[in-house]
Amino acid sequence: MEARNAAASLTIMTEIVLPNDTNVFGNLMGGRLMYWMDIAAALASQKHCNAPVVTASVDNISFENPIKLGNAVHIEAKVTRAFNTSMEIHMKVWGEDMTQQFRYQSNEAYYTFVALDPNRKPRPVPAVIAETEEEKKLFDGALRRRQLRLILGGKMKPDDAAELKAFFMKD
Ligand SMILES: CC(C)(COP(=O)(O)OP(=O)(O)OC[C@H]1O[C@@H](n2cnc3c(N)ncnc32)[C@H](O)[C@@H]1OP(=O)(O)O)[C@@H](O)C(=O)NCCC(=O)NCCS
Repeated sequence: MEARNAAASLTIMTEIVLPNDTNVFGNLMGGRLMYWMDIAAALASQKHCNAPVVTASVDNISFENPIKLGNAVHIEAKVTRAFNTSMEIHMKVWGEDMTQQFRYQSNEAYYTFVALDPNRKPRPVPAVIAETEEEKKLFDGALRRRQLRLILGGKMKPDDAAELKAFFMKD
């Protein structure tokens, strides 16, 4: 299976915050944003592997700045690294006040998607080629993030997480 450039998976999604998307403070609800992020990540991972995918996990998300009613939401999603059947997708989220032409960062997050075969079993995906400095940094960090999420998900023993241990043990 031929490796593919990270850039080929880039997905940019834009939404507008409508009244039904907000909480009582008139800001975008976190759950609605996570739903849009799930769609953007699904599209990016499907672009990479050309197969149906499911969400396997969502890493912790901190909402730094609320996105206001009437503002635009921009989500940029890109696959950072593929393992065997799973892919890590990095997302950056901005809000934008279109009238003031002012953009602000809202949050960033990592989602993991798994490609499925016609029998709905995990199937192998192409490797990722990281080209830019940012893509290389994200690619390098992906292994230890994977180990942390698999430990938290009860799928890996901490003793087996060599890269994660090395990261915390270094001076
Ligand atoms: C995700 C899912 C396909 C994994 O299936 P599984 O039978 O556990 O398969 P495996 O143990 O072989 O794992 C397959 C891949 O998923 C990854 N995976 C499993 N659990 C994971 C988790 N909690 N976080 C990140 N990756 C995970 C494994 O690391 C493996 O990746 P790799 O092949 O690149 O090493 C399965 O749990 C599933 O279908 N879950 C429901 C998905 C869904 O419906 N999502 C929508 C939200 S409800």
